[in-house]
Amino acid sequence: MTWQLRRARQRDVDAIMVLETSIFVNDAWSNGMMTRDIADPSCYYLVAFPPDEPENIVAYAGLLAPAGAVEGDIQTIAVAPSARRSGLGRTLIQSLITEARKRGAREVFLEVRADNPEAQRLYARLGFEDVGVRRGYYQPDGVDAIVMRARIDEPVTTLATDAAAEATEECE
Ligand SMILES: CC(C)(COP(=O)(O)OP(=O)(O)OC[C@H]1O[C@@H](n2cnc3c(N)ncnc32)[C@H](O)[C@@H]1OP(=O)(O)O)[C@@H](O)C(=O)NCCC(=O)NCCS
Repeated sequence: MTWQLRRARQRDVDAIMVLETSIFVNDAWSNGMMTRDIADPSCYYLVAFPPDEPENIVAYAGLLAPAGAVEGDIQTIAVAPSARRSGLGRTLIQSLITEARKRGAREVFLEVRADNPEAQRLYARLGFEDVGVRRGYYQPDGVDAIVMRARIDEPVTTLATDAAAEATEECE
């Protein structure tokens, strides 16, 4: 399957909320919370859609990463059931991590329901590790949140041996 991504806009909120309320039910954010986050320059929200159907939103994900802060937070991610298991969730999280890196974050945190092994597996595959538990965090269900963290390492580059030899030769 092929999808396109773009930055979320205010006029996407209604389409996002259709997914949000049907997927998260008791944990769903309100329209106001979603509207505020998408408008917040400290946040970065992406939406996914089939090629050339930019209003047909099938997934979204959001990052909170204020400029200059060393920590970022994955605020949310949801993929419509019909679009799952095609790598979209992974691509969205990777895109948010790339943006967090650009904004200077060195670590990205998230909370995930203890009874959501699919999402935990997605995050683990992307390098997130468990760092704590928030008891009864998800209300009214009283389900624990597992806190996960991924470190964003500084890129380290060195000249490959062959390239170093060539560079030396060129200087001679
Ligand atoms: C969790 C969710 C975002 C994953 O989206 P997705 O597009 O289906 O995920 P991907 O196809 O990119 O899968 C990436 C990896 O995640 C894991 N994964 C995703 N869905 C899984 C499932 N149902 N069962 C087991 N592992 C799963 C796998 O390791 C998968 O890699 P693989 O396909 O190579 O095995 C999606 O299932 C969803 O929207 N769930 C409801 C909302 C939700 O739980 N959000 C997270 C809140 S913290």
